[in-house]
Amino acid sequence: MLDKLAGEFCLSEDLIYLNHAGVSPWPARTAEAVRNFADENMVEGSRRYPQWLERETALRTQAREILNAPSIDDIAFLKNTSEALSVVAYGLGWKEGDNIVSTNQEFPSNRIVWESLASRGVEFREADPGVSSQPEDALFSLVDSGTRLITISSVQFATGLRMDLETIGQFCKSRDILFCIDAIQSLGALTFDVGRVHADFVMADGHKWMLGPEGLAIFYCTPEMRDRLTLRQYGWHMVEDLYNFDRKEWRSAKTARCFECGSPNMLGIHALNASLSLLLEAGMETIERELLKKTEYLFGKIRSEPDLELITPDNAGRYAGIVTLRHTTKDNEFIYNFLMKNNIMCAYRNRGIRLSPHFYTPVEQLDRVFTLLKSC
Ligand SMILES: Cc1ncc(COP(=O)(O)O)c(C=O)c1O
Repeated sequence: MLDKLAGEFCLSEDLIYLNHAGVSPWPARTAEAVRNFADENMVEGSRRYPQWLERETALRTQAREILNAPSIDDIAFLKNTSEALSVVAYGLGWKEGDNIVSTNQEFPSNRIVWESLASRGVEFREADPGVSSQPEDALFSLVDSGTRLITISSVQFATGLRMDLETIGQFCKSRDILFCIDAIQSLGALTFDVGRVHADFVMADGHKWMLGPEGLAIFYCTPEMRDRLTLRQYGWHMVEDLYNFDRKEWRSAKTARCFECGSPNMLGIHALNASLSLLLEAGMETIERELLKKTEYLFGKIRSEPDLELITPDNAGRYAGIVTLRHTTKDNEFIYNFLMKNNIMCAYRNRGIRLSPHFYTPVEQLDRVFTLLKSC
């Protein structure tokens, strides 16, 4: 299966792409879908809009599958992860003294919106997941009777720490605490199951591990929470009977479409549909297995270099596709710039070098990084 997909990855031969935790390259079929959509728009405009709507439904079906969500009615398409987090934060009714528990490793999107609730008397508490061998315990130690929600990234963007979602979900469920997961660093990289982890909300933009474009995010919300969230955005697209433009009375859609206020991002839908078709064809179990092999290979290389320090936890279940390392004697920002100049697409995070291959990355390309590191 993976051999069959090899032709999908057409990166420039001089480029080694280890930044899937940043913005990913597109598979060939995604580029083709966008080209075809552009040509169609040029020649026929929206004549085939009914087919576009079918494509939208197909994408919702793929999103359901990748999340193992009960129904496509639980899936909304939003602009990005940050928008979805804002829909949750400003849709919940807060009272003075409520608190939200998270970690101190979150990407700004999963911190700023919660901090913005301070004006309503809501406290944002940040646990340090690095202090215990069980990062979840650090979260739980900050929970008290005022805790309404735990919000975390499934995989931390800078350290690569993978959280035990099932344990957190069970904890939340047993205490009637809501559970919100920023899954952008794991959807498309790892298998996912919203039911198994007892998630109330899950969000992820498509431009990282899902190999899609920026600007189209998947948002999952349980039916119960869908009914409880106050809507903050309104428009023609979020109502029942949406194509009846003459009707004056309206009710918000019963499905997660209630979060989609206006015209869909049809270009993004065509692109992400193509990208997810590739992931689902390969199978998420296969992708997870192949990606973890790459991660473990990188761990081995780092361990064999005395001057390199591994920042990402390497104990089983604690890593996904992100591997962050630091040189112990040289300037890491300098090394990062050196790698980039030598066509290694990587990132500088947490004062270290973040490498994020995907399931299809050839191992020889990983070796090249370490050859270069020696010459730096
Ligand atoms: C954990 C995490 N959340 C969110 C984002 C980006 O959010 P958005 O989709 O709003 O751009 C990133 C991007 O690096 C991220 O790593």
